[in-house]
Amino acid sequence: MGNAPHRVYETPSGMLNAIGLQNPGVKHVVENILPNLPHGETQFWANANGTSLAEYAEIAAVFDNSPVTAIEINISCPNVKEGGVHFGNDPVMAAKVVEAMRPMTKKPLITKLSPNNADIAETARMVIEAGSDGLSVINTLVGMAVDIETRKPVIGNISGGLSGPAIKPVALWKIRQTRTVAAKHNIPILGQGGLTTGADAIEFAITGSDAIGIGTGLFYDPLLCGKVLDELRDYLTRHNMKSYQELVGTLQS
Ligand SMILES: Cc1cc2nc3c(=O)[nH]c(=O)nc-3n(C[C@H](O)[C@H](O)[C@H](O)COP(=O)(O)O)c2cc1C
Repeated sequence: MGNAPHRVYETPSGMLNAIGLQNPGVKHVVENILPNLPHGETQFWANANGTSLAEYAEIAAVFDNSPVTAIEINISCPNVKEGGVHFGNDPVMAAKVVEAMRPMTKKPLITKLSPNNADIAETARMVIEAGSDGLSVINTLVGMAVDIETRKPVIGNISGGLSGPAIKPVALWKIRQTRTVAAKHNIPILGQGGLTTGADAIEFAITGSDAIGIGTGLFYDPLLCGKVLDELRDYLTRHNMKSYQELVGTLQS
């Protein structure tokens, strides 16, 4: 059902959202939505959120028998009463979620980590050791906004997840913090959080993002991905590099 409105609110250099993970459920997605998507050049990942370990396991089992390329485990959504960040803030619980899903699917499991986590490197280590094939870094930061006329919170859920350019420095730092353990286990990082330009993508790559994601930027410009790719190509050509991978993890420090 999702949360009561308002669910989104623009903030300086970003936005707050508290959608509440509204969706028709995993069975409906697999039976009625995935068959109608153009599988081929475009690959689709499922983003999975459960309210219990059993539910996470069931979601993995249902998506296992579907055309999605990978399952991203959402243990970092701050906008739901159960599940989400309630699992992700505790490294032991986070690992239990991965352990519950791992036997149910052969698909790659990508664990999406929260920047609100006290020790993101420890959570990364534990979810990797529990069987995660990749890390997604980061989900949104918790924030709020106030309507000064009504003196009420703007967001129906009171708090929301902050995303967009405002969180880019946090995303880069969290990638830096998880990079060592990920590299040790040869686990890729999907970096995201505030990326809106080719230069941003290059910063993410240098810091250690094996792949990059864009969310909020698409609200400003639905054609952003092509522009980011063009800027990336120009940079690689200027620096005599043949691929994005040559840039990954080349931070000089
Ligand atoms: C409107 C909105 C809805 C989102 N829904 C989800 C979700 O269902 N699951 C999830 O893991 N992350 C969700 N996110 C978080 C994004 O995937 C991303 O991690 C975060 O917004 C940071 O990237 P960005 O600054 O490029 O948006 C959502 C973000 C926004 C703005």
